[in-house]
Amino acid sequence: MATRPDPEPCREQDLGLFEIIQRDGAARIGKLHTKHGMVTTPMLLPVINPNLRTIEPREMWDKYGIEALITNSYVIWKHEDLKSQALSNGIHSLLDFPGAVITDSGTFQSYVYGDVEVGPEEIVSFQRDMGVDVGTMLDVFGRPDMSRDELEHAVSETANRSEISLSAAGPDMQLNGPIQGGTHADLRDESSLLMGSAEVDGKRFAIHPIGGIVPLMEQQRYKELFEILLASKASLPPDRPVHFFGCGHPLLFPMSIALGVDIFDSAAYAIFARDDRLLTPEGTVKLDDLEEWPFHSHALYSKTPKSVRAMSHEDRSRILAEHNLEVTQAELAKCREAVRKGTIWELAERRSHSSPYLREAFVWLQDQLDDPDDGPVGESVLRMIASSNPLRSGGEQLGEEIEYRPHILHIQALLATRWRVPGSWWDSSAGPAERVLLLEGTSPPWRNKKSALIEHLSREPRTVVMISTPIGPIPYSLEDLSPWCHLTGPDGIWQPISDDHEIRDALDELGLSQLPLTRITPEDDLDEIPDSEDIRDWLDRCSIVDKLSVLCSIHPLDACKMTDEMTCRRSRTDRVVNVSSGDSHILSPRLTDGGISLTVEGASIANDLNASPTPEFGKTEDDSDFSGIPRVCIVDDAIPFVGKGRNVMHGYILGADSHIIPGQPCLVVDSKGTLVAHGTPLTSHLEMQFLRKGIAVKVRDGAFKQGQ
Ligand code: GUN
Repeated sequence: MATRPDPEPCREQDLGLFEIIQRDGAARIGKLHTKHGMVTTPMLLPVINPNLRTIEPREMWDKYGIEALITNSYVIWKHEDLKSQALSNGIHSLLDFPGAVITDSGTFQSYVYGDVEVGPEEIVSFQRDMGVDVGTMLDVFGRPDMSRDELEHAVSETANRSEISLSAAGPDMQLNGPIQGGTHADLRDESSLLMGSAEVDGKRFAIHPIGGIVPLMEQQRYKELFEILLASKASLPPDRPVHFFGCGHPLLFPMSIALGVDIFDSAAYAIFARDDRLLTPEGTVKLDDLEEWPFHSHALYSKTPKSVRAMSHEDRSRILAEHNLEVTQAELAKCREAVRKGTIWELAERRSHSSPYLREAFVWLQDQLDDPDDGPVGESVLRMIASSNPLRSGGEQLGEEIEYRPHILHIQALLATRWRVPGSWWDSSAGPAERVLLLEGTSPPWRNKKSALIEHLSREPRTVVMISTPIGPIPYSLEDLSPWCHLTGPDGIWQPISDDHEIRDALDELGLSQLPLTRITPEDDLDEIPDSEDIRDWLDRCSIVDKLSVLCSIHPLDACKMTDEMTCRRSRTDRVVNVSSGDSHILSPRLTDGGISLTVEGASIANDLNASPTPEFGKTEDDSDFSGIPRVCIVDDAIPFVGKGRNVMHGYILGADSHIIPGQPCLVVDSKGTLVAHGTPLTSHLEMQFLRKGIAVKVRDGAFKQGQ
C-alpha cells in the first residue's frame, strides 16, 4: 500500500484556529490548524479503542485519508502499560498515527458506569502530557431523562471546571468545551454562553462538542437532537467548530451539517461491524438480510453477502468495518461537495425521507423556518436564513418543499421587505402605479417575451409588470435573477394558477393587491421587437434599481440617483452587460445568477450615498429596510494592501454592517468611511467579529490600484 506523507505542522500563530473556506447557510467547509496538520471539516473522527484496533490508525491515515481521530484518554490512563508508553513516547507513537489526535476524558464512562476514578485537573494534565492535539475536559454528562435541577447542575458544574481545565491544558494542547443541558433549550443556551466565554490568560476552548446526546440518538429522538443543536449554536462564538459528540451515523450527516455541525465521531463503523450490520446513508442493514449489496465499496468488491457470512467473525468484522468506514467517508465527501455547490439543504431534504424519525425532525425544522420561535432556536434559524446567499448559479430543482429552503426564504424575504413599486415611468410621467400586468404560463428566459409587455406598456405606461413563477410572483425587473430564472422541473410547473385568490394573496405580499390586474400568456418574441427604445431603457433601469435595492440594501431613491444618467451595453442575447453613468462604468449584472458586480466607480458612488456611521463592532445600527450598501471597516495597517486589491483577512476588521450577506456585494472602508476596496463577503458580520484566520472579503478591486 502506498504511504501518505506525514502532515506539516501549522504555523505557531495559527495553532488551534478555525477558518471558514466556504459556506452554505449554517453549513461550512472549514480548516482547523493543528500541530499534526490542517484538517478539513466537516470531518469524521473514527474512534480508536486502544485495546481493540479493528483498523490500524496508520492504515486509516494511508488508505482512508483520515486526518484526525479520537481515542479515550481515560481508557489509556486506567491501563498501566498503555499509560506509561503514552507518557514516554507520546500518543501519536502509541497509536502509530501521524495526523491530529483528539482525546475524550472519561465523561462517557461516567455516564455508562456511574463514576470515574480521575479528577478534572488530572485527566486534562494527562492528555497534555501525552502530546494530544485536542483534549477534552471532564464535563458532567447531562442525560435527557434527568430532572431540570440535575441538568442545571450538569451545566454549572461543567462551567465551573472550565478554568482549571483551561489552565491544565497549557499552551500547546487545545481543549474541547462540551455543552450540556439535556433537552432544555434555555439550558443549552446558557451552557453555550458560559463555555463560549470561558477564558484563562487568553486561552479559550478551541472546539465545542454538543454533549449528552447519545441517548437521544439511540432512541432516534432526532427532533430533540436538532432542537438542542440549534439552541446550543445561538450563543456559541462562530469561530469554534461544533462537534456532535458520539454521532457517527451517515444518516444524520446532511441535516447536522446543514445546521452547522463541523465534526462527528464514530465508533459505529466498528461496533456495527462486529454485530454484522452495515451502515448506509439511508440507515442500517443487517448482513443476514442481504442477497446483494445495497451500497458498494472497495472492501466488498468481488464478495457477496453469502461469501462474507461464511467468513470467520474476525475477518467479517474487519471487512464490514472497512466498508462502514468507506461509506461514512463517502457520505461526508458528498456533504462537503453539497456545501461547495450550495445544495446541502436539498441533500438534507432528500435524506429526510430515509427514516420517519428523521422526517419528523425535518418537518419540525421547516416549521421553525416558516415561523421561528422567540428563543435561541429561532435565533439560530434566523441567522441561518440571513447567512444563506440568496442567489445560486445553476439549476434549482423544484420540489414541494422548495419554499422552505433557507436561501429561497431569504430571497423571498428580501423581495418582500426591499422591493418597491416604481414611482416614475417610461413616458417620463411620475406618480403611483395604475395596474398590474401578470405574465403567466411562461417559462424563462422571460426577456424573450418582451414584445407582449412592450406592446402593453406602450398603451399603459403606469403598469407594474410581474411574472408568475411556481414559487410566487416576481417583478419583471428581476427576470434574470436566480433562483427564479433557474427553476427546473417538467413543463407543467409553469401552468397558470387557476385560483384568483392565490394570485391576489401573493400580490398582496408585495403591496399590489389593490391594483387592477391583467393576466396574459405572452408568446415568444418574433425576430423584431417593436421600436421602443424608451420602454427598453426604462425596463433596464428598473432592473438595476431593483437589484441595487433588493441585493445591496440601497434605498430605491438612491439607486435612482446612481442610475440617473445610466446607459448600458447589451449582449447579442439581449442581456445588459455593462452599466455606465456618464463616462464611468459603474456595474455589470452577473450573467450566472443575475446579481450585481460593482466597479470601483460604482462602489464609490454607493459609498457616498451611504450616510450611516462607519460600522464598529459593539455599536448598534439602524435596522431600516434600506441601511445602505453594507460595509466592512478595516484596521489602518491593512489599508495599503486591501486598497491595492488584496483580500480582507479576518483579524483585521474593526466593524461590519449586520446586513452583510455572504455572496452579495460589500464595500471595504477605513474608519473614516473612505472607500478602500469592494468585493464579496465570504462570512457574516458575526463571523467577521470573531474569526482570526482566513478570508473575510474576497476583494474584486482595490480603490488605490492606480497608485492613488
Ligand atoms: N461522548 C459522548 N457524549 C459525551 C459527552 O457528553 N461528554 C464527553 N466528554 N464525551 C462524550
